[in-house]
Amino acid sequence: MQRLAKGWQRRQVRVGFAPTMGYLHEGHLSLVRRARQIVGPRGTVVVSIYVNPTQFGPKDDLSRYPRDFARDRKLCRAAGVDVIFAPSDREMYPANHGEEFSTYVVEGSLSRGMEGASRPTHFRGVTTVVAKLFNLVQPDVAVFGAKDFQQAAIVKRMVRDLNFPVKIVVAQTHREPDGLAMSSRNKYLSPTERQQAIVLSKVLALAKKSVNGHLVTSAELKRKLERFIATFPDARLDYVELFDPRTLHAVSKAGRGTQMALAVFFGKTRLIDNETL
Ligand code: PAJ
Repeated sequence: MQRLAKGWQRRQVRVGFAPTMGYLHEGHLSLVRRARQIVGPRGTVVVSIYVNPTQFGPKDDLSRYPRDFARDRKLCRAAGVDVIFAPSDREMYPANHGEEFSTYVVEGSLSRGMEGASRPTHFRGVTTVVAKLFNLVQPDVAVFGAKDFQQAAIVKRMVRDLNFPVKIVVAQTHREPDGLAMSSRNKYLSPTERQQAIVLSKVLALAKKSVNGHLVTSAELKRKLERFIATFPDARLDYVELFDPRTLHAVSKAGRGTQMALAVFFGKTRLIDNETL
């Protein structure tokens, strides 16, 4: 991968990159299209497919995370991807003289709340693998999805703090016709859970409507949203947060421009979504 990347650099070919864990859907493919738009027909678009073990906690779904490389390859080809980078665990996390991989990238501020609070080592795994992928692919531009708002914010911060020569672009969330954000994990949902999964986009819409450009007390708004979520019997709220999109700090009053994010369990399946109010 690095040899290819060096060749592109020498020949001044622009490289656009979309890192993924595979089991691709339209959301991923919208990142690919965005990357192509940015680097143009003479540029190169790289997609990585790697289910990164270090970002899964012991209770997470690493072993059952869906995989279908043959299907992913077809989708990539149809979307005009030039190179798929699909390394093995041994390539990404080699043991050194019998000792485990031992260098990690840790972001210390934006990773604490929300996803970081629910999944304590998650973002350490994300920043580490994204840093490794950037060093391997050496892209000019990398595209991330707004669906994972906190992840995109942390990657941007890492790139600034550690001087990665890459521009981060955030592409909007791609949704099913009923509003559910596309996710590889949607496949875990039973038919009734799938029906109730619209609660995430519905509650975001309710929050937007409740705020309607005015300032409202976050605690009150949250109570209202929690009551709404409780009307979906299979949904178990993990968190709902109202925060400043730049700092990710919770705000006591929510208004236009406040970011809202939530995570909801359906059985063992955990779904996330977010929106600017
Ligand atoms: P994964 O969940 O496969 O997502 C890969 C990229 O696709 C992320 O940038 C994510 O935000 C984006 N994405 C997912 N669903 C989307 C949707 N409905 N609309 C728009 N974009 C969407 O996120 C990861 O993998 C990993 O943490 C990774 C960054 C690859 C590091 O391992």
